[in-house]
Amino acid sequence: MTPILALSGVGKRFGAFAALTDIGFEIGEREAVGLIGPNGAGKTTLFNVITGFLPPDAGSIRFAGQDLRGMPPTRRVARGMARTFQTAMVFPGLTARENIAMAVREHAGDGLRWFGGGRGTAAADDTAARLLAEAGLGHRADTPLRDLSHGERRIVDALMPLALSPRLLLLDEPTAGLTRAESDRLLDMLRRHHPGTALLLVAHDIDIVFGHCARVVVMELGRVIRVGTPDEVRADADVRRAYLGSAAP
Ligand SMILES: Nc1ncnc2c1ncn2[C@@H]1O[C@H](COP(=O)(O)OP(=O)(O)OP(=O)(O)O)[C@@H](O)[C@H]1O
Ligand SMILES: [Mg+2]
Repeated sequence: MTPILALSGVGKRFGAFAALTDIGFEIGEREAVGLIGPNGAGKTTLFNVITGFLPPDAGSIRFAGQDLRGMPPTRRVARGMARTFQTAMVFPGLTARENIAMAVREHAGDGLRWFGGGRGTAAADDTAARLLAEAGLGHRADTPLRDLSHGERRIVDALMPLALSPRLLLLDEPTAGLTRAESDRLLDMLRRHHPGTALLLVAHDIDIVFGHCARVVVMELGRVIRVGTPDEVRADADVRRAYLGSAAP
């Protein structure tokens, strides 16, 4: 089976500093893969390279079998690769449902999305309401974003890219600032209601990653030091060494 994402020999330098060296791993269709590593390991840099915000200096990135070299971020999104929306895309005074409906219509290419009219409005609203209900936030659909709690806001942030029904969703620390229960609810929602979406998840809470991902990629100093199941990674001596002094897995 063709993996949804295949990285091979990916490298990225900032001047003399090698931020990524020889990165290679695959994500299967519908697979949830965790990406962990100490601060500065290169996780966010790798996200930026995969999503097209930074050009790699070496290696290849294939998405659904297609080489992404030179493809701009917007075209990667159109092909089914989504990441958390920039905060600039979000309107604090609009309700949770209105914000998500906007993302749905953006994806559908409804040119009237900024004016509250247009044919797709009712359908987009229904989709937004469904996404919120699946996430356990149905009762907050009509609340302005600015009045949601931090945890509720993070869930809405994750729902925006899901409006695109992506084949791969990249989430960089979506659970930052969430309680353990809120984090579990967010990840459960993603896996239960969007099983067709493969996931690459970065989280500093290693228990969250181990609990929700079938496989885990461990990075240290810009390199992949281990790829395995949570049990394999937890038992690995190099991983334990990499985490000495921070949260030992
Ligand atoms: N634009 C840049 N220019 C120079 N160095 C950079 C740049 N972006 C990142 N770096 C460096 O690359 C290394 C990897 O950073 P990155 O943000 O990818 O790590 P990370 O694994 O996401 O860390 P964290 O867990 O703290 O988010 C760091 O040493 C960082 O200082
Ligand atoms: Mg980071």
